[in-house]
Amino acid sequence: MLKKETHCVPKHIAFIMDGNGRWAKKQMKPREYGHSVGAKKFKEIVQHCADIGVEYVTVYAFSTENWKRPKNEVETIMKLFRDYIHEAEKDFRKSDVKILFIGNRDVFDDKLKDEMCRVEKLTENRKKTLCIAMNYGGRGEIVDAVNRLISSGKTSVTESDITNTIYSGAVPPPDMIIRTGGEIRLSNFLLWQSAYSELFFSDTLWPDLTTEEVDRLIDTYYQRNRRYGGV
Ligand code: FPP
Repeated sequence: MLKKETHCVPKHIAFIMDGNGRWAKKQMKPREYGHSVGAKKFKEIVQHCADIGVEYVTVYAFSTENWKRPKNEVETIMKLFRDYIHEAEKDFRKSDVKILFIGNRDVFDDKLKDEMCRVEKLTENRKKTLCIAMNYGGRGEIVDAVNRLISSGKTSVTESDITNTIYSGAVPPPDMIIRTGGEIRLSNFLLWQSAYSELFFSDTLWPDLTTEEVDRLIDTYYQRNRRYGGV
């Protein structure tokens, strides 16, 4: 097990929290139950990453494609999201993590948009950062950035322009992207930011992920040789 804040850890870990539905099915429970247990797991894993010294964590909570899911399921995820924001606002003194939301907020009602801004503001001076990708799509993020740059008067753009204009702004790209649930794809997650990320795919369903498995994946990360196109 990694010791608190003493071990070398990656600066930024991103998670694709996949497998809640299958986990629930295995327990003969509705998919919504899987998401509730998944939300508890999300808090545990985020806290663990903060405890061991990871500066940035990003989680894929809801994609721009997830609206296609049954109404009940979408409502459950949105309720878990709202509950988390309320909790983060109420207990903001208990945490040392800054919360940032990435994704297209236009679809959310004004009340939720206000709450998201309030939590970001309340937590803004923290050293560690949690990015929650909500109504997020990697292609949409790049298109939004380019359109914003065009609106600001640019007629051509550089890589730095896009890096500085995407939702995650000053957040460095993820060193590791961990996807649970056995699928081996990125599913439109952090397409711009993942250019040199190390990818990890685990068969573990998200609600079954343990902090020990995260630690083992971090150990594996340190056995990889990141060359960024060099030799
Ligand atoms: C993918 O599993 C998971 C999601 C689309 C939702 C993830 C949401 C949470 C973990 C909880 C809410 C988050 C916050 C920030 C409070 P899946 O449903 O596709 O699983 P399956 O592949 O087994 O069907």
